[in-house]
Amino acid sequence: MKRLAPSLLSADFGRLKEEIQAVEAAGADYLHIDVMDGHFVPNITFGPTMVEAIRKISCLPLDVHLMIQNPDPFVPAFAEAGADILAVHLEVCPHLNRTVNLIREHAAVPAVVLNPSASLFLLDQILEDVDMVMLMSVNPGFGGQKFIPNSIQKIKDLKAMITARDLNVDIEVDGGVTPDNVEAVCRAGADVIVAGSAVFKTADYRETIRIFREKMGNC
Ligand code: DX5
Ligand code: ZN
Repeated sequence: MKRLAPSLLSADFGRLKEEIQAVEAAGADYLHIDVMDGHFVPNITFGPTMVEAIRKISCLPLDVHLMIQNPDPFVPAFAEAGADILAVHLEVCPHLNRTVNLIREHAAVPAVVLNPSASLFLLDQILEDVDMVMLMSVNPGFGGQKFIPNSIQKIKDLKAMITARDLNVDIEVDGGVTPDNVEAVCRAGADVIVAGSAVFKTADYRETIRIFREKMGNC
């Protein structure tokens, strides 16, 4: 079953509670929460206290995407705040096996994220240890960017890698996914779709999510 994770980055922060309740009622599977530190990416968002506040108003699994330079010291705080999935960028984790173990020790599900320019070869020694790989299909930092087309081949190659090793690892795709390309993204092998502006910049979330679901089931 493919899952849809609306990214709160594109929500109206002044009405965050209503926005969360609206996508939850509209059929979202996860809430994708983008944590940015102004170092790893050229933008700043929020920290564990925001995750804690969101945890209190939603039952959905919280898919927390850490775009921060030094994630290890913050893993306990995000896990305790209620993150279900903790995704760290491979590019900033020199001891990725240790980071993944740390996430598990704090009872969260570890995911590893690759920027568009990062090779799948870098996953060779970590793929067995994670539950999910997130492929960025834009350069991280902002919502509303255009999907990088060669991400499709990368998703296919990752899917082949996972299948060849007979692993149960989900593929999440983040950035520039819309109803126009979601079918191709799913057909390439994506299990979890992040969509920020393509959900929150529309008027009717229920209808938008229905369209996404129809296309996600349609591959
Ligand atoms: C980008 C974030 C994404 C972003 C996606 O750095 O990681 O999760 O919110 O937004 P859209 O779907 O608008 O590209
Ligand atoms: Zn994200």
